Amino acid sequence: MNVASISDFRELARRRLPRMFFDYIDGGSYDEITLRRNVSDMQSVALRQRVMRDVSKLSLATELFGRGYSMPVGLGPVGFAGMFARRGETQAARAAARAGVPFCLSTLGICGVDEVAAASSAPIWFQLYMIKDRGVMSELLARAARLECAALVFTLDLPVAGARYRDYRAGMSAPPGVAASVRRAWQGLTHPAWLWDVYVGGGPHAFGNLAGAVKDAKGFGRLAAWVAANFDATLTWADLGWVRERWKGPIIVKGILDAEDAREAVASGVDGLVVSNHGGRQLDGASSSIAALPRVADIVAGRATVLMDGGVRSGLDVLRALASGAQACLLGRAWAYALAAQGEAGVARALEIIRAELAVAMALTGCTDVRAASRDLLV
Ligand code: GLV
Repeated sequence: MNVASISDFRELARRRLPRMFFDYIDGGSYDEITLRRNVSDMQSVALRQRVMRDVSKLSLATELFGRGYSMPVGLGPVGFAGMFARRGETQAARAAARAGVPFCLSTLGICGVDEVAAASSAPIWFQLYMIKDRGVMSELLARAARLECAALVFTLDLPVAGARYRDYRAGMSAPPGVAASVRRAWQGLTHPAWLWDVYVGGGPHAFGNLAGAVKDAKGFGRLAAWVAANFDATLTWADLGWVRERWKGPIIVKGILDAEDAREAVASGVDGLVVSNHGGRQLDGASSSIAALPRVADIVAGRATVLMDGGVRSGLDVLRALASGAQACLLGRAWAYALAAQGEAGVARALEIIRAELAVAMALTGCTDVRAASRDLLV
């Protein structure tokens, strides 16, 4: 297939991956209402078509947290990416660095922060889940700081895991047992290209950031139980101080959807926030990210950098988000599909597609500089 769009990568990923990993990327929580809303609300944002504006020169470059990037797009944290492609996080980070956009490594990456930082020619961002064991957290933050990660993305919207029915059905979060193991093995055997390349050739398959520190940090088939046993559900805004003492670089909090939370985040002195409902993987029924974005951006009023994720499947969507108040978007599923489909080259191509779509959208709305995108672009 000649890949024209992110949805083509989705189809290739569906063919290549064992069902449990495709469903892990593709699925959301419960009835997937919020997951669908992220996409449909995004698509319903109408842009003003403008003409005769000299769009021969377009500037897509931007600055985030004191660093320059080639466009207002980053690869957001995605767990288990090393199960989608061989040492997948390193491949995606390399593609991002080459494209001049940030890559954010998940705490639940298969590859650890040392491995990914070493593979990438640019500083990576690091995403933090607060695990109950604060010794492990301190050590991890120190490691990320030593490796000069450019920003810390602290995810706040997963004190408990939303039930993902697809993960349960496909065996990703099914309870341990022979039946689930047999189902998982069957999925592997019926996807031989993946089996050989990723499963046989791509180990070790444990959470690299937590290996050695948390017993049984593998998670397969036990993800929900592992999160329930290890994630710190006691967190309040006061705990941000604990992080701040251990992390001197920029702190971006992820999972802000509510006006009150946006106020608290700004009052807590964060450098940035991500308007996010975790890709519709947590509170099903929550509003879409794009619907929540304008209000959050109004409250923040320039006092922190506003990023968003959820429903971004094209460069056109990036412009919709910028016009709605974001300074940049994070991609999740979009890069995960591309990685699963074609590895590093796939992620590079996905970023090219998004860059080209963004440029065309800018030209046709008469927006020549992403940094000047505003609500003026909306109908
Ligand atoms: C983890 O962050 C997930 O959404 O699966």
